[in-house]
Formats: sequence, structure tokens, C-alpha cells
Amino acid sequence: MEYRYLKVEKKDGKCVIAINRPEKLNALSGELLKELECAFYEVCDDGSTGVLVITGTGKAFVAGADIGEMKGFGSIEAEQYSLQGQRVFGMLEKMEIPVIAAINGYALGGGLELALSCDFRIASENAMIGLPEITLGLVPGFGGTQKLARIVGIARAKQMVMLGERISAAEACHIGLVHRVVKAEDLEKEVDALAAKLLGLGRVALKTAKYLINASADLPLAEGLNMEARAFALLFSGNEAKEGIEAFLSKRKPEFRRG
Ligand code: CAA
Repeated sequence: MEYRYLKVEKKDGKCVIAINRPEKLNALSGELLKELECAFYEVCDDGSTGVLVITGTGKAFVAGADIGEMKGFGSIEAEQYSLQGQRVFGMLEKMEIPVIAAINGYALGGGLELALSCDFRIASENAMIGLPEITLGLVPGFGGTQKLARIVGIARAKQMVMLGERISAAEACHIGLVHRVVKAEDLEKEVDALAAKLLGLGRVALKTAKYLINASADLPLAEGLNMEARAFALLFSGNEAKEGIEAFLSKRKPEFRRG
């Protein structure tokens, strides 16, 4: 499908979606969110994609929801917009493949909320990260008030949401908000290396791990442990565990994705 605001590239099992509205620092209009939703459906339907990378073109990853578009909102439109963003970003969490945010610059407001919905966040050292909605008289509306605390804890989340201050990539890494910070010129290479590593692992085991960890946020421990035991057992009926265990015992590298 042709997109106005996205560049989509697929190669060797990896799909890269670059948000491409650089003149507005990739701000998320309703139209852009609709395109992202379609692109995410395409990735879900395409069995040949094993890892998804999301990034931005120009100097921003995404500078947030489109403030110009929000100007005309009443409460009904605002709620619809919030639910739209939450639904679209929620697709990344439900996606059965790993998703990497390659944070190439500003990740503010809805931009950080997009990155929070990814499994891995790699940032270039010039990235600036934050939830500045409070400075607009708002709160984050695409999941930030709920998801940030689960990643960095309530104290840090309150600091970021209630003060609206931007933090550097290095500080974001220090608090566990991004997994790794790299030089801007190395971002693509580092993200490619992570994607290649993920593509070399068992697809079913990865999807199971992602599902279990995401589910743990909403489950009492006993229920989560039960679910883990059932998933662990199920993996023994598939080929990946057989291959992984056999490969270890015969001192060779496993080949999880033959055929
Ligand atoms: N929405 C709409 N347009 C935006 C935008 C946004 N979030 N962020 C930047 N732009 C536009 C600017 O208006 C400007 O457009 P014009 O050239 O037409 O005036 C263009 O992008 C370039 O931006 P700047 O000139 O401001 O660039 P800068 O380098 O001086 O500053 C910045 C960069 C610090 C990121 C600054 O643009 C900024 O503060 N942006 C807003 C960040 C923000 O508040 N994000 C939260 C949005 S609310 C939200 O996301 C709610 C939610 O959770 C759902």
C-alpha cells in the first residue's frame, strides 16, 4: 500500500516503518495514525516479517500528537483521538513479533508513548525524551500515564509527567527507559544488529516470551506463574525447543528458522 506519511521498507525478515512528516517533526495527526494502523495490520498479515523497526525521518522520532489539529477539539473529539492513539499503539504490544523503536531524535508526548509500546528502545545520543503535555494544560493521552510507570516506576513517571521536563538519551538509559544509547551515525547499524539477533532466535519462543511478560502487568503472580508453566510446557511440543536443546548438547549453533 502507498502511504503519504510513512516510508515502509522490508528486507530479509525485517520491516522498517519510518514516520515521514519531517516538516512537522513527525507530529501524529489523525490521518498519520490511520496510516500507522494500516501499516501495522500489513505487518501482522505478512508472515515473512520477523521483526519490526519504527523510526522517524529528519531530526525527530516523533514530536508528539499534532498540537495544531488538537486546537479545534472538544471533549468528544479529544476522547476519540486518545482512544485512536491507544488502539494503534496497543497493536504493537499485541504484535507477535518483536518491535524496536529506533529513537533518532525528539521523542516527545505521543512520540514517547509510541516508543513505550515497543519492546526495545535504542536511542541516538542526541535524542530528547519527555512527556510535555502538562505544559499544554493536558495529560498524556496515548498511554503515557499508564505505561511509563510500569517501565520506570511511579516516582520517575510522576517526575516526567507532572513536570513535563525533557531528559537526555543518557538519562533515559540511566532510568531504564531506553535500553541503549548510541552515536547518531551508529543508530541504524546497532538497530540492524539487534534485529538480526532477534531474527536468529525461535519465533514461537519469542512471541511466547513477549506475551507472558506483557500479561504479567495485569495478572496476580499466581495466575501469571500458572500461565508461564502452561506456555513452557507447550513449547516442548514444538520444533524450536527440540532444536535448541539438541544444538546445545551437540555443541553447535541452533538453526531455529529452517524451512
Ligand atoms: N504538533 C504539531 N506541530 C509540531 C509539533 C507537534 N507536536 N512539534 C513540532 N511541530 C512543528 C512546529 O510547529 C513547526 O512547524 P512550523 O515550521 O510550521 O511552525 C515545526 O514542527 C518545527 O518545529 P519547531 O520550529 O518548534 O522546531 P524546534 O527545533 O525549534 O523545536 C521541539 C523542537 C522542542 C520538539 C518543539 O517543536 C516542540 O516543543 N514541539 C512540541 C512538543 C510537544 O509538546 N509534544 C507533545 C504534544 S501533545 C501530545 O502528544 C498529547 C498526547 O499524548 C496524545
